[in-house]
Amino acid sequence: MSEGQDQAPIERGYVVTILPTGERVRGEAGQTLFDALRAGGVPVGSACRGEGVCGRCALWVQSDSPLPPPSELERLALRAARAKDGQRLACQLYPQGALTARASYW
Ligand code: FES
Repeated sequence: MSEGQDQAPIERGYVVTILPTGERVRGEAGQTLFDALRAGGVPVGSACRGEGVCGRCALWVQSDSPLPPPSELERLALRAARAKDGQRLACQLYPQGALTARASYW
């Protein structure tokens, strides 16, 4: 991938840049961030297998594209997990553009 290519619109999917390593993983359109990361070999915490209840997949995410707002389920799980500002549940997030993701354990 050439420099800057990850910023171009992607018709069928998105690119996740893992921080701090800079590794990139591609997600398919309609695929959660959780599934994209795991398919790319990036470990993501989970105790509920992506059901949106354990809060362990909370990651810091940033995107130049608007992120879909958290659902009620996600808000409740984030609150129960005492997630920090800027964290989203990877299993509940369907990115629509390039983004960065960071976990405390990467
Ligand atoms: S994997 Fe449990 S809330 Fe996402």
